Amino acid sequence: EKGTYPHFMLKEIDEQPTVIRKIVQEYRDEQDEIKLDSDIRQAMLDTDRVYIIAAGTSYHAGLVGKQMIEKLANVPVEVHVASEFSYNMPLLSEKPLFIFISQSGETADSRSVLVQIKEMGHPALTITNVPGSTLSREADYTLHLHAGPEIAVASTKAYTAQISVLAILAVDTAKAKGIDLDFDPLQELAIVSSAMETLCDQKEEIEKIVSEFLETTRNAFFIGRGIDYFVGQEGALKLKEISYIQAEGFAGGELKHGTIALIEEGTPVIAIATQENVNYSIRANVQEVVARGANACIISMEGLDEENDTFVVPKVHELLTPLASVVPMQLIAYYAALHRDCDVDKPRNLAKSVTVE
Ligand code: M6R
Repeated sequence: EKGTYPHFMLKEIDEQPTVIRKIVQEYRDEQDEIKLDSDIRQAMLDTDRVYIIAAGTSYHAGLVGKQMIEKLANVPVEVHVASEFSYNMPLLSEKPLFIFISQSGETADSRSVLVQIKEMGHPALTITNVPGSTLSREADYTLHLHAGPEIAVASTKAYTAQISVLAILAVDTAKAKGIDLDFDPLQELAIVSSAMETLCDQKEEIEKIVSEFLETTRNAFFIGRGIDYFVGQEGALKLKEISYIQAEGFAGGELKHGTIALIEEGTPVIAIATQENVNYSIRANVQEVVARGANACIISMEGLDEENDTFVVPKVHELLTPLASVVPMQLIAYYAALHRDCDVDKPRNLAKSVTVE
């Protein structure tokens, strides 16, 4: 039920802080340590390479998951779009572990990969919002997202839940491998959930950004570096699927290799700047597009913010910034769709779960 909300999407965006708290609760034991199925822990220890398989928004969560698993647990990870993987399987390592990320657990492209790799005898873990779904039943292990039903076609709370569960899995693996970390995901996620609350209260500021940057445009670019590039791709997908504005996420440094030719007077460029190590270079990319007439909107993070940044998200751990920076982008997409009279919850040509290949 939507309750007092005009759309499921807005309700689901607002539910995110609660979902994160629920995940923390579900994955915490009595000693305040991570609670995770020991078979999953063992599968992560046994593998020499993780293959993440997903589609759409779940694929974007996988890109962030790769960063976390590689940086924290030191396990190599490849992320693949399911529909490509099934027809062009890469060379596999000796002991692969497949992780399927799927809100619905019913995506046919992902299932087709699952069937293939099970025939080959490889282990599979599904991270899903629907335990008992096809991908969950057919995999060896399941991690539950605990996000509650997601009704709007545009995925929001499932994305942030997926990243949160992947962070917990990454840290659990690191600990099992004896890696010393000064990163407690349960504590950091609690900080994220408060940050999300603050962000969800800033809807007016977001509507202003929409009127200034996106009301009449036909296209928009999202740029970032590293983890900000991945979240930019998610921001672009959200915007295009519900507002029909042609949007793309690009790596900041890649613009000069072609895409910058598209920048003209007034082209909206949304830059995400939450990472210290690339703060200087992404801001240089913003200068490059501004010099060519772009209308630049900078979403930065407390501590790295500069005067005139358009929107500043509260400070969270550097590996968890997508959980904060995606919220303004979800809201930007929502208000852009609203202002352009689009059907927010049921965009044209799309279904909630894609059960055909
Ligand atoms: O249920 P799944 O997570 O497997 O779905 C994957 C994609 O179809 C889904 O994320 C899609 O891209 C969303 N509509 C994006 O908002």
